[in-house]
Amino acid sequence: MILVTGGAGFIGSNFVLDWLAQSNEPVINLDKLTYAGNLENLAALQGDMRHIFVQGDICDFDLVASLLQQYQPSAIVHFAAESHVDRSIHGPGEFMRANIDGTFTLLEAARGYWNTLEADDKANFRFHHVSTDEVYGSLQPDDAPFLETSVYQPNSPYSASKAASDHLVRAWHHTYGLPVTTSNCSNNYGPYHFPEKLIPLIIANALAGKQLPIYGDGQQIRDWLYVKDHCSAIRRILEAGRVGEVYNVGGWNEKPNIDIVNVIVGLLDELRPDPVGSYARLISYVTDRPGHDRRYAIDAQKIEHELGWRPAETFETGIRKTVEWYLSNQDWVANVTSGAYRNWLDQNYSDRL
Ligand code: NAD
Ligand code: TYD
Repeated sequence: MILVTGGAGFIGSNFVLDWLAQSNEPVINLDKLTYAGNLENLAALQGDMRHIFVQGDICDFDLVASLLQQYQPSAIVHFAAESHVDRSIHGPGEFMRANIDGTFTLLEAARGYWNTLEADDKANFRFHHVSTDEVYGSLQPDDAPFLETSVYQPNSPYSASKAASDHLVRAWHHTYGLPVTTSNCSNNYGPYHFPEKLIPLIIANALAGKQLPIYGDGQQIRDWLYVKDHCSAIRRILEAGRVGEVYNVGGWNEKPNIDIVNVIVGLLDELRPDPVGSYARLISYVTDRPGHDRRYAIDAQKIEHELGWRPAETFETGIRKTVEWYLSNQDWVANVTSGAYRNWLDQNYSDRL
């Protein structure tokens, strides 16, 4: 049995679905169900006894400690976090609570539980922390991609809170011996991606005939990885990763934002043509994000050489699957973009020129 935190969010739900498709090891899924958590993502597991969902907060020490005691998991896979940079700019407080206090609480509960285990279980236990390439800051055009040894230079409240959580995980290993691993991954995309993030936002807006907002000049570069490849990397680290190590995970796929948007527009023009004309007519350059990081790039050679992991999808295959998924799952999009989501759109986009 493993304990997953944040397993009703974008990456966490993909991880839980993939895990149970490939193994019979049950999952306890602890998720607070914030705006980003959605049990609809896990509808395929309804009635599946291997999935135990618990609605709760990782900041609740007693709850986490009692779940660990009750279910005796062999690993914790920690996804739960506030994850959207723009939201962290509008309201950083919740990021500090969930990402820093939450990780601290989880580590303390894990340490208490781990200390009660027999020698073999103790040695085999893993705490896997899911983090981001954004902790390394912003690269210049000619800089080498981020290595596991790159200096931490987080620039947004989100990345600063994730950097803090990475440091806590590291310290709990060095000080208390907790068997941790950490992965720092680039931008994910794929099914169940909440449409506040670039790729699903562009798809949803295009289909609704709304503007496709490009921050600044659209030349900011991200490395993009299909979410299922991130999940397979985490499974591989759990299987064979070395305790105390950090693994950078990426898709060898750096692209400027405007290129991403143009690829999506091209796919939509092909798969769901709009009689009014190409969706490209909706592209709209808007005021930039404050402190916007210019470039992220990941050097994923360590996980490739040490653990034999490589992404299965190229950007071309992954983005096609993603656009097709959104076209086939319009009800999911309609459900998650109602209510509070509209308030967020007003807050984030109404004062951008
Ligand atoms: P998400 O925002 O889609 O999901 C986060 C999930 O965590 C939600 O289900 C939410 O309800 C839950 N959650 C939030 N606060 C909680 C709390 N206090 N207690 C319990 N549950 C809580 O995020 P995501 O995109 O799936 O990201 C998952 C993890 O992966 C995060 O740690 C993020 O930093 C990291 N990451 C994301 C990306 C990406 O491109 N999305 C890339 C690299 C790393
Ligand atoms: P996002 O999906 O928010 O991920 P992150 O900020 O974690 O990289 O944004 C990806 C890139 O797209 C980022 O450079 C900001 C940009 N972006 C836009 O240009 N317009 C938008 O409406 C959004 C949400 C993002």
